Amino acid sequence: ERGGYKHFMLKEIHEQPDVVEATLRGRVDLVNGDVHATEIGVSPELAREIRRVYITACGTSHHAGIAGRYWIEQLARVPTVVELASEVRYRDPIFYPDDLVIAISQSGETADTIAALKAAKAQGAKVLALCNVVDSAIPRASDGALYTHAGPEIGVASTKCFTTQLAALLMLAVYLGRRRGTLDEGRARETLQALWEIPNQMRDVLGDADYVHAIAKKMTHAKDVLFLGRGLGFPIALEGALKLKEISYAHAEGYAAGEMKHGPIALIDETLPVVVICPRDAHFDKTVSNLEEVRAREGQVIAIATKGDEQILEKSQYQVWLPKVRDEVLPLLTVLPLQLIAYYVAHLKGNDVDQPRNLAKTVTVE
Ligand code: M6R
Repeated sequence: ERGGYKHFMLKEIHEQPDVVEATLRGRVDLVNGDVHATEIGVSPELAREIRRVYITACGTSHHAGIAGRYWIEQLARVPTVVELASEVRYRDPIFYPDDLVIAISQSGETADTIAALKAAKAQGAKVLALCNVVDSAIPRASDGALYTHAGPEIGVASTKCFTTQLAALLMLAVYLGRRRGTLDEGRARETLQALWEIPNQMRDVLGDADYVHAIAKKMTHAKDVLFLGRGLGFPIALEGALKLKEISYAHAEGYAAGEMKHGPIALIDETLPVVVICPRDAHFDKTVSNLEEVRAREGQVIAIATKGDEQILEKSQYQVWLPKVRDEVLPLLTVLPLQLIAYYVAHLKGNDVDQPRNLAKTVTVE
């Protein structure tokens, strides 16, 4: 049942190219640079009428939501907020009838997310479920559903559901942008084409995982690990830290790279591994200057970077190389080495990777 893999988590990491492909198939229209309306769970009229997107979720699904926000604001120009579902209802939240609330959940049964979406519905907002389990509680309680096609996820640490959520959110952002006239056909086509090519690039990155194992070995005894990223690298930094915490029990923090100087820089010394997500994207120069600040304080930098980047090779102690892709699709690649690092560190420590202590796969209590 684990298909030759030692753990479900490793199997699910390696399934990502196929399940992302399955999530895109039949939905993406590369000829017209568009996404088919029937598959997206939001009617063209609703796509035009909404004035705000309000994303709510927990854990890994919340991290996907942060990437979703960047895409929706950039491509569809709709103001978007992302809120932890466990906070929404305790805050007397405000929803409007022209809000599109997106409840993201792998299981579709997370109690906090259900409570948040009910609060939104009670105030007349429209709710879209982004979910992996057909007909679970969250899509049942929503006005529409956009399904990820990740198949059953058994490992407690979410991996393949995360990347399929990313793929779905980017498709949704393109769909909204096209309906609202904020995204021209050319850019839409290029973005979708880049997304379409991602499964093969994921295969390349995952096929070459030995050096990630070597990096993980060096990190096995670290008590704290810092993950830094900017823009679309920020939610990936959060996700990398969550993965490591969950299964390796090391303390890890994900931070917006620019926020480092506002506090966490005090933690840096020669014992601290710092994973810096610094591919050649629009934020590269700024992120590299954060990387230099870490090096200046003797921190050990593990760079997640673009193949052939001499500057990074010179400035960091360890590197994971990724192919050059369009900025929009980067998170689907940058997260892969972080999942593998968490997996290998946990495995090297002898932890139960699929069933980490104190955690349940589906959290049905608030
Ligand atoms: O099923 P959901 O997506 O609603 O679950 C949300 C979180 O409980 C979940 O992502 C959790 O954080 C995972 N264990 C992360 O790996």
